[in-house]
Amino acid sequence: MTPVRRQAARRSRPALRRRAVLATVPVVVAALLATAAPATAGTTGSFGTIAPYGPLVGPAMAGTTGSSGAGDPYFPLAGNGGYHVRHYDLTLRYDTASRRLDGTAVLTARATQRLTRFDLDFTGLKITRLAIDGAAASYRRDGQELVVTPRRALREGQEFHVTVTYHGIPKPVTDPDGSPDGWIPTDDGAFVAGEPQGAMTWFPANNHPKDKASYDFTLTVPKGRTAVANGVFLGRRTAQGQTTFRWRQAEPMAAYLATATVGTFDVERSTTRDGIQVYNAVDPREAKAAAPVLKKLPSVLEWESKLFGRYPFRAAGSIVDRAPDVGYALETQGRPLYDSAPALSTLVHENAHQWFGDSVSLTTWKDIWLNEGFATYAGWLYNEQHGGASAQKTFDTLYARPASDRLWAFPPGTPGSGANIFATPVYARGAMTLHALRKSVGDRVFFHILRAWAAEHRHGHGTTARFTQLAERESGKDLDGLLRTWLYTDGKPDRSA
Ligand code: ARG
Ligand code: ZN
Repeated sequence: MTPVRRQAARRSRPALRRRAVLATVPVVVAALLATAAPATAGTTGSFGTIAPYGPLVGPAMAGTTGSSGAGDPYFPLAGNGGYHVRHYDLTLRYDTASRRLDGTAVLTARATQRLTRFDLDFTGLKITRLAIDGAAASYRRDGQELVVTPRRALREGQEFHVTVTYHGIPKPVTDPDGSPDGWIPTDDGAFVAGEPQGAMTWFPANNHPKDKASYDFTLTVPKGRTAVANGVFLGRRTAQGQTTFRWRQAEPMAAYLATATVGTFDVERSTTRDGIQVYNAVDPREAKAAAPVLKKLPSVLEWESKLFGRYPFRAAGSIVDRAPDVGYALETQGRPLYDSAPALSTLVHENAHQWFGDSVSLTTWKDIWLNEGFATYAGWLYNEQHGGASAQKTFDTLYARPASDRLWAFPPGTPGSGANIFATPVYARGAMTLHALRKSVGDRVFFHILRAWAAEHRHGHGTTARFTQLAERESGKDLDGLLRTWLYTDGKPDRSA
């Protein structure tokens, strides 16, 4: 047992944000800061007037155009209505010298209503051809919306294939919290992360966690570089100075968790005792610092599996890049992505997300505490069970912060806008919420709740309301007051809550 390496913040570099000052909190990510600004009315620029629950949304609608968003109040244009994508087949070629990306995306989708028109999310790159079931279809670009008009209307229930051929120099988007997100160039390739919005910078998608799909990746990069995506490694082949890597993500995945990170990497493969295929890709400049932490991945996954239930995917691993402008790590499915050698606490956090966030996905970004509060609490539990501070101690240290501290700036169940979804209250007060729940129901029931949550929504979706129901069912207690206080009530909660 090794005590958790303490870090004031796991940020490698302050990047775009102020560094968090979490001196005594061994956890991580809370670091991401954002300013905990008060809620702003809208989160999109050019389409500010489109109502998230406008007349085009929902099964009751009479029209035949798919809505331009999935109905998310924080990201009204994220995702689209009228169809479900079952599979993405992405064939990409990236020239690291010119930074040009050439792609073909084939989406297998099913119409959930009659469709004379539908949207995809896709921004930046130039489209040279778009076809539906092999026949060219007309389309237009409107901000992040790619508006597609099939030659013939799609019937409700009809399965169809959309093929989009495109190229260009991808650019990341800037999130409401100021972080870069999407295809982020590095000195030797690209750091590819998509939470919450960036997937659309490198492939056309139904870009909301509500719509999960399986993925195949065929990634071609200059010989000597490695392209790492999600899921199982299927093989590589080099010809004419180019190497093609193939990957398959068989379990459903939200678009924001997809990656196709490119760089000069040392690769190490192994299989855990549970038969999980591990693929680690490490920038050699980070190798020395990363090695002792990555070595612990199998034992961390084993520990997490004991606590949360069977690991949800057949593949695992780590991508350790050197991406100084990024400023965060991401729980890319099956293989978290780090912008530099991670601290052990970060590795624990990102892998806890495999259960909480990746397998059990959000239905709305507002419920982000279901991801970040849980992954943060996993870190507290790891410390508690590995010779570090108890979760109670971590809770107490945070609770001691004065009412004016930004920890209490807003309640984690209602961050208020997309600018706040990665701010301190979501992580730290989100974890405190779980600790308050644990105190109220007792350890046995609490750990049962965590496992039941992961099991019942495995490869699916959750909401805060469903979590509350489950916790009440498992504990036989009315938890409404406690969760309302911790998740939804402004200001520092009364400790008795
Ligand atoms: N989910 C990531 C984590 O917990 C943070 C992603 C931050 N992304 C961003 N665009 N700010 O570690
Ligand atoms: Zn996280």
